[in-house]
Amino acid sequence: MTDLTTPIRTPEDADAALRPKTLAEFVGQAAARENLRIFIEAARSRGDALDHVLFYGPPGLGKTTLAQIVARELGVGFRSTSGPVIAKAGDLAALLTNLEDGDVLFIDEIHRLSPAVEEILYPAMEDRALDIMIGEGPSARSVRIDLPKFTLVGATTRQGLLTTPLRDRFGIPVRLHFYTHGELEQVITRAAKLLSLPIASDGALEIAKRSRGTPRIAGRLLRRVRDFATVAGHAIVDAKAADAALNRLEVDALGLELMSRQNGTRHETAFTTSIEAREGVTTGISAGDRARTVAVAIDAGKSRDDIVTPGHIFPLIARDGGVLVRAGHTEASVDIARLAGLNPSGVSLRRS
Ligand SMILES: Nc1ncnc2c1ncn2[C@@H]1O[C@H](COP(=O)(O)OP(=O)(O)OP(=O)(O)O)[C@@H](O)[C@H]1O
Ligand SMILES: [Mg+2]
Repeated sequence: MTDLTTPIRTPEDADAALRPKTLAEFVGQAAARENLRIFIEAARSRGDALDHVLFYGPPGLGKTTLAQIVARELGVGFRSTSGPVIAKAGDLAALLTNLEDGDVLFIDEIHRLSPAVEEILYPAMEDRALDIMIGEGPSARSVRIDLPKFTLVGATTRQGLLTTPLRDRFGIPVRLHFYTHGELEQVITRAAKLLSLPIASDGALEIAKRSRGTPRIAGRLLRRVRDFATVAGHAIVDAKAADAALNRLEVDALGLELMSRQNGTRHETAFTTSIEAREGVTTGISAGDRARTVAVAIDAGKSRDDIVTPGHIFPLIARDGGVLVRAGHTEASVDIARLAGLNPSGVSLRRS
């Protein structure tokens, strides 16, 4: 499911509406939250700028959100930019000299700063000063400009790519972790409220389980489930409604077309076009190759890019209501797998 379950930002992420605005609203990351709360309180009571903060961890876990929260909780201005945007040392100098006392300067993807820009950042972070060269040749001289007391908040998904001198200048490094199902359930319940979507706790948990520990994915899945619930006329999203919608999304994400749109066969068997895993198979015929293709097809983290068509596996799409809707082997095997708490899928083997 490339679009939905990759945590990478996509243009259609309408994230702003669901972003928590205060530390108290921010779910999970208990250790990080508690540390930040203490450091922020201390800085505030001293009337001092907060030490520089580095948020690092996988995409979609709340780095940008926390950066904004830090500024809000400090009650200071928030300026935002990103590593690749700052092309020249002069760009950063301009940003820095325009800050006001106490401001938060947020640099996203800070591992992508160029070395020349990083050089400017060192004295800025350490001494809150800029060293600028004026003139050229023998008459060139270095001028030091004092900067306001600011807090640099950096964010990166690639902490390992930061240079040591840069990493060492952050007094408060904060690592973000994947969320538990329980935490994501809270994130989803809160977001549903903001979207005015009635949701049962088992519905929220069902979405949480399929969100790969990532609030961004949870938010996206919730929006799609809402669409399904609206069309299906569900008054409340419970586990059953969420599960049906998410299964539908996973099948759609593989981009499988039904072989026949007008299915008039006696048993309404819903074959799609045949498939093969794009990688890890040779002829596609051996039991191992077939198992590999099946594994890729039922992995919610895989997408249409991971399969090719035609191939040697013939997927069937089970109906949403299971055996209650269609009393077939396809629905029965999926129903049983789901009852057992397993991946809702089955394999039908035939000897030929
Ligand atoms: N703890 C949380 N509680 C509720 N929502 C959250 C939480 N953390 C993140 N979110 C939501 O998840 C989405 C992604 O968060 P955010 O943009 O802060 O992630 P990020 O770590 O900056 O990702 P990237 O590395 O791609 O920049 C936002 O919509 C945000 O509202
Ligand atoms: Mg971000």
